Amino acid sequence: MIALRAGRPVEITGVCARDRSRDRGLDLAAVRWFDDPVDLAQSPDIDVFVELMGGEGGAAEASVRAALNAGKPVVTANKALLARHGVDLAEIAEDKGVALAFEAAVAGGIPVIKTMRESFAGNRISRVYGILNGTCNYILTRMERENLAFETCLAEAQRLGYAEADPTFDVDGFDTAHKLSILTALAFGTKLDADRVYVEGIREITIADIEAADELGYRIKLLGVARRTETGIEQRVHPAMVPKSSAVARTDGVLNAVAIDGSLVGEVVLVGPGAGGNATASSVAADIIDIARGLHLPTFGVPAAGLEPYVQSEMH
Ligand code: HSE
Repeated sequence: MIALRAGRPVEITGVCARDRSRDRGLDLAAVRWFDDPVDLAQSPDIDVFVELMGGEGGAAEASVRAALNAGKPVVTANKALLARHGVDLAEIAEDKGVALAFEAAVAGGIPVIKTMRESFAGNRISRVYGILNGTCNYILTRMERENLAFETCLAEAQRLGYAEADPTFDVDGFDTAHKLSILTALAFGTKLDADRVYVEGIREITIADIEAADELGYRIKLLGVARRTETGIEQRVHPAMVPKSSAVARTDGVLNAVAIDGSLVGEVVLVGPGAGGNATASSVAADIIDIARGLHLPTFGVPAAGLEPYVQSEMH
């Protein structure tokens, strides 16, 4: 199916992974294994480098840089890497004329990068906001529906494979901030800057808070919000009371929701699986197919240097 959609064969020719023996559901016997991802990234055996290691630096950063510098397109699901080094990596990709594709890095299986970069290209965007972390949304939903303690729900999310290797990234809001900073750059043409996001997580939320919000007609969600103000672009992440009737409030469990306000189309809300292996695979496969088809857009839809200023984001 992938080859059919790509219009050419797509093959795994090289792999680098810590555990070579794990059953990955496909035959990798004929594939060349590498000890060092940087060697794989530069190998003449590959046309596209796919990075799914995670982590904002280390082997992930070194291998993505190596692939781009070698003139190879990169597909990554690594939001932390993009949040920290996105501008720099986009500049290398621009310089080398290759794609840096990252649909899986934000909101898992929801096609929000394509939507923002392609479908909204003719709109002036005033605001983008939503639920960008499946683990937090899963925890808040389970606390509300089943009256379970925060720690119990977090352990469930870890067991289900939604949480980051270090789940403080999820529950303290940094994963949402990383994803928001990527969406902000796409939405507003700003130079990506995750340090300008005000961040507050969900650790302090209690069942009593959730019940109080419920009585007033709201649900508590961890939101990432980026909006255009008179003086610049503001970005913030914090728990918020969302009216129960809204699409964002009705987004439960591991699902994510992203609302985008465009000058021509109005508000569009995308809802779908935000974490988990298959959701990530769906977006990674789409990026590989785009590259095989020869589709190549600027990384953030505008030059990596950015177009608009930020304001310092604070709570109101
Ligand atoms: N830990 C992330 C989440 C995984 O829960 O949303 C997907 O980025």
